[in-house]
Amino acid sequence: MIGRLNHVAIAVPDLAAATAQYRDTLGAWVRDPQDEPDHGVTVVFIDLPNTKVELLHPLGEDSPIAAFLQRNPAGGIHHICYEVDDILAARDRLIASGARVLGSSAPKIGAHGKPVLFLHPKDFSGCLIELEQV
Ligand code: CO
Repeated sequence: MIGRLNHVAIAVPDLAAATAQYRDTLGAWVRDPQDEPDHGVTVVFIDLPNTKVELLHPLGEDSPIAAFLQRNPAGGIHHICYEVDDILAARDRLIASGARVLGSSAPKIGAHGKPVLFLHPKDFSGCLIELEQV
C-alpha cells in the first residue's frame, strides 16, 4: 500500500542554524523558509536525489511542534511521510486493521498541497507517520 518515502521531517530549535548546517556542512540544496500557518510550522524543504527532508520550526501559539521541542530540546525526527495512491482507501484499510488516525480522520491539505493524514505513533513503533496522496 505505501509507496515511496516522501520526506523525513526534523523538528529544530533554531531554523536558521539548522538550515545553514544542511546547506554549508552537509552540502544540500535548501529552499527558502515557508510559513504554514494552518499547520503551525515554518518549514525549510531540502531536496535530496531520492527524497526530501523538512526542517520544522514552531509558528504561532498552538504549534504541534512546540511540545515536541520541549521534550526534545536539541530537536529530533518528528515524523516520516510515505506516499499512497489513494488516501481514503488507505485510511479505511488502516482503521479496519485497528490503527488510529489522528484528528477527525478526514484528510487535510499538507505542506505540498496534497491530501495528508497522520497515524498514531503508538500504533507504529513509536513513529509518527504521515501519509500523502500523490
Ligand atoms: Co510532513
